[in-house]
Amino acid sequence: MRVKTVYRAGMRISEWVQGYTSSVEHDTVIAREVVEAAMLHVTMLRESRLLDEETACRLLGALEALRREPGRLIEAMRGYEDIHEALEAVLEELAGREAARSFPLARSRNDHVAMALRLWGLRMLERICREAVGLAETLLRRSEELADAPFPLHTHFQPAQVGTAGHWLASYAEAVIDALGVLAEVGEVTARCTLGSGPAAGTTVPVDRSACPLPPAADTLYATGSRLFANLAIASLAALATELSRFAADVVLLSHPSIGAVRLPDELVSTSSAMPHKRNPVVAEVLRARAARLAGLAAAALAVNHGLPSGYSLDLQEENPVYYQALRDALEALEAARLLAEKLEVDPEAIKRMVEGGAVLTSLEAAEKLTLEKRVPFRDAYMEVAEAVRGSGSINQPSIREVIMSRASLGAAGPGLRPAIRLLRERLSSARERCSKLTRLLASVEERIEEGVGKCRS
Ligand code: ARG
Repeated sequence: MRVKTVYRAGMRISEWVQGYTSSVEHDTVIAREVVEAAMLHVTMLRESRLLDEETACRLLGALEALRREPGRLIEAMRGYEDIHEALEAVLEELAGREAARSFPLARSRNDHVAMALRLWGLRMLERICREAVGLAETLLRRSEELADAPFPLHTHFQPAQVGTAGHWLASYAEAVIDALGVLAEVGEVTARCTLGSGPAAGTTVPVDRSACPLPPAADTLYATGSRLFANLAIASLAALATELSRFAADVVLLSHPSIGAVRLPDELVSTSSAMPHKRNPVVAEVLRARAARLAGLAAAALAVNHGLPSGYSLDLQEENPVYYQALRDALEALEAARLLAEKLEVDPEAIKRMVEGGAVLTSLEAAEKLTLEKRVPFRDAYMEVAEAVRGSGSINQPSIREVIMSRASLGAAGPGLRPAIRLLRERLSSARERCSKLTRLLASVEERIEEGVGKCRS
């Protein structure tokens, strides 16, 4: 029969308090990483000669079984304060009482929860980075493909200027690529080792922290009491998702039948149970809402930390589910955006329909033409065009094609678009390089764990 080891043994605690303050409900998310943190800890104790081989191997064997099948740990968690407490009890069963009782040497839940959160965060950020690279690639590929497809550009969501669909899509590619650089940086800040930091001020046990495969957090108080790594991730992902919500809003608005510049294929729309003509842009809608929720999660995460004194407080536990939700939502937002970017269709005739319906998208170019060709000072040219478009004068509006072909700006539809796409491709390749550093960091953790288990077999 299992011995229930609880830290509060002998202390009377109400069931309500136990339930209210426990994190077991959401600890399931980081079960694998909690076990991995424990394995790195055992490896560190072993390499510091603080555990004998047999004890280390008993623990690593039990932990490896839990790593492969965290269900056992998750099942055992009910009734405990948290997963770290439950793990000690499960270890008693799987590795024997003596080994399990040596495990907590030089370990605190504060350094272990930070380590597990960082491992989970690194794993997620690595996936998020790869997904963001995929999205940027898709946007750039479609941007090239649609480089010359006329497309209405808006300001204030009023018809503004002529662009191309490629031009429009590249604007989101640039946002994703810029955010990628920040995410890779956040991934590196996340990938720090907190083991051996104790509850706050470290330990008197001579653990060799270099046994951990990730670079150490340099200060033990920071390692155990700060969630900056999580806050940076949530905040930067909220900012990226906010950009994606604008892409989603464009898709919703521009696919409205009265504009029809974008069309979503059947597989990406849903219909109404009452109005069979409906083609609802549901993926874009959910993306937009989840991005809004992510902004709320960023506010929640910062609020938990705001004004918190240094060192671990149980308040920090309440940020954990926010962190999980935010990173999961961000990953899905990227997947949704990629699907939209991949599959959306563009109608290059939409802009013509808008112009025929009375929309003007070339007034600036008409005025520029007067200035460039007739040397009319720009403000005078502007006034002349203004009179025409406001109804009292007449002026020849340049054609859509002519406008596109004569645009001189880098990064605008026309001759400046392809060089801009090339520039973005270069930036993307350096962002991809930085993301692959996260893949290597994660691999170094997995290798160290497997090496530790492997040594026990030989
Ligand atoms: N369950 C906590 C968390 O997820 C870790 C436990 C720290 N508890 C403590 N009493 N120091 O953040």
